[in-house]
Amino acid sequence: MGLSTRIETAIASAVALGQGRGADGRFSTPPKLGEALHYATAPGGARIRPTICLSVAMACGDDRPGLSDAAAAALEVIHCASLVHDDLPCFDDADVRRGKPSVHRAFSEPLAVLTGDSLIVMAFEILARQSHLAPDRVTQLILTLAQRTGMPGGICAGQGWESEDQVDLSAYHQAKTGALFIAATQMGAIAAGQEAEPWFELGARIGEAFQVADDLRDALYDAETLGKPAGQDDLHGRPNAVTEFGVQGAIQRLKDILGGAISSIPSCPGEAQLAEMVRMYAERLTPVVSPSRVPGE
Ligand code: IPE
Ligand code: IPE
Ligand code: MG
Ligand code: MG
Repeated sequence: MGLSTRIETAIASAVALGQGRGADGRFSTPPKLGEALHYATAPGGARIRPTICLSVAMACGDDRPGLSDAAAAALEVIHCASLVHDDLPCFDDADVRRGKPSVHRAFSEPLAVLTGDSLIVMAFEILARQSHLAPDRVTQLILTLAQRTGMPGGICAGQGWESEDQVDLSAYHQAKTGALFIAATQMGAIAAGQEAEPWFELGARIGEAFQVADDLRDALYDAETLGKPAGQDDLHGRPNAVTEFGVQGAIQRLKDILGGAISSIPSCPGEAQLAEMVRMYAERLTPVVSPSRVPGE
């Protein structure tokens, strides 16, 4: 089975459970919220976090594929939850996500809050349900995902920086975006029975590069290309890599970070394939810039 099929199957079965399907008719679930769970998770975006997670698991031998699939699905479900909440009027007030109306626009604000909440809880349930496969690994997976989602260093912390007057760009990026990439590499390793610590660096570097690329896309591309509103960093006055380094500076930074990512890959049976994956990813992330589209340069 290909990576993408594994990821989609794992997410779809988690959402089906959340919708109450297969629950012996014991629950009568609210239909709109059930529908919103599906809407928020499918069709997905690039599925980059679960792809990295499974790639690392495979590079480490992937001896418990069911556990790796659960880790990948849990990560993506948390990511989808973070997007649903991020788009709410009290955060970025974004009407479009992944080329369609954001969840609060399609359903309602209360349902969007509840969709995000349900998905966050679902992520941990996905992992807990695999305890029979390897209880110690599951405990570590739950802990790792919790640390990278909440406070003090996870997505919540990252979003929390937006309410501060003084913001350290790299702390903000590391928590808002980097955290889930660190979770991706570490959870892939844990699911395959390996130590998490050596995989921190790779996740942190890919995450940092990803955020720089996202800032570049936000500044350079239009909403139609992005499938979400453009120019948001400027609009909300958010600290970002383009304001800090300029477009060319940010592109150079992106390249430097990804070069460092490749050299940080821990030694493992699938090291060479993993390096190839990061190289391909680097190419995809780097925006093609025509001089006429470089604002302020
Ligand atoms: C967007 O993430 C949010 C950020 C962390 C910048 P992605 O670009 O991975 O979103 P999808 O999942 O592909 O839509
Ligand atoms: C979203 O960050 C990242 C989350 C942790 C939710 P942004 O607000 O910068 O990303 P987009 O542009 O909405 O995808
Ligand atoms: Mg935001
Ligand atoms: Mg946003």
